[in-house]
Amino acid sequence: MKISIVGAGNVGSTLAERILNHGLADVVLLDIREDLAKAKAFDLADTRPLMDYKKSVIGTGDYNEIRNSQIVVITAGFPRKPGMTRDNLIHKNSEIIKEVLKNIKKNSPEAILVIVTNPLDIMTYLAYKESGCDRRKIIGMAGNLDTARFKALLFRQTGVPPDKIETFVLGSHGDTMVPLVSKTLIDGKPLENVLDKENITSLLARTKKRGGEVIALLKSGSAYYSPSAACFEILRAIINDEKKTIPCSCILEGEYGMRDCAIGVPAKLGKSGVEKILEWKLPPDELGALRKSAKLVKDALGKLGERKNARSK
Ligand code: LAC
Repeated sequence: MKISIVGAGNVGSTLAERILNHGLADVVLLDIREDLAKAKAFDLADTRPLMDYKKSVIGTGDYNEIRNSQIVVITAGFPRKPGMTRDNLIHKNSEIIKEVLKNIKKNSPEAILVIVTNPLDIMTYLAYKESGCDRRKIIGMAGNLDTARFKALLFRQTGVPPDKIETFVLGSHGDTMVPLVSKTLIDGKPLENVLDKENITSLLARTKKRGGEVIALLKSGSAYYSPSAACFEILRAIINDEKKTIPCSCILEGEYGMRDCAIGVPAKLGKSGVEKILEWKLPPDELGALRKSAKLVKDALGKLGERKNARSK
């Protein structure tokens, strides 16, 4: 098994470390800053005797090295700076994604693509369009990150450990994300029976701003421990063919009444990628919020001129 990671910044390199720690696959860490990719790979390779890694890692700037990858993860692109929204990155990062996709298509056309670059849903749709891949092979990482953030805040508020909390955050990875209060159970009890409305509203707001909170404190760069862990969960589900339901950004073809965009929905992930998009019956307010979130993604793609030539399949 071989996983290539394009972008050797904080998310990419921390993800490489997670893959090696768990022995999931051999890793190729690629960056246009070849020295950075090599430095991080050397450092990780030197860790092998200490941590008993069974898998190898190389750093490179050469796309030839990604040949025959089962999965290519794209983390390349600019991160947000304090005060920026993810959408502020749209123009710069769409150029980067297109260039990266051209190279992936040439060197590892069969790979499943996992997109991490922001604005996430827009970049996921661009990857679909540029790659020409079957939609099942295009997965945007974020719903499980947003879900983890909501869960972590719920844990702190209620004291109930995260493994006894069930919840899902759908929609776009941004201010219009949709935490499903209707599907949130705290130790088996509906959230609305555990916390009052005011408390729930403030936790939802904080979940949406959590990435920004980290950026404001870091001052340069964005979160990477939880994003790389969320990405790792997706990779493990694919490599181990887990058929696990994970909220992630998928290309829709009519699910939830939406098509021709990428948005966070519950997806069963296995060795073929997105093996099934689950269509849950949602209360009208949550379904409405999901559609509104998708509409904003579509509008942004429209402005970019990317939906004019939308693929018909
Ligand atoms: C965040 C970035 C990964 O939410 O979008 O921290």
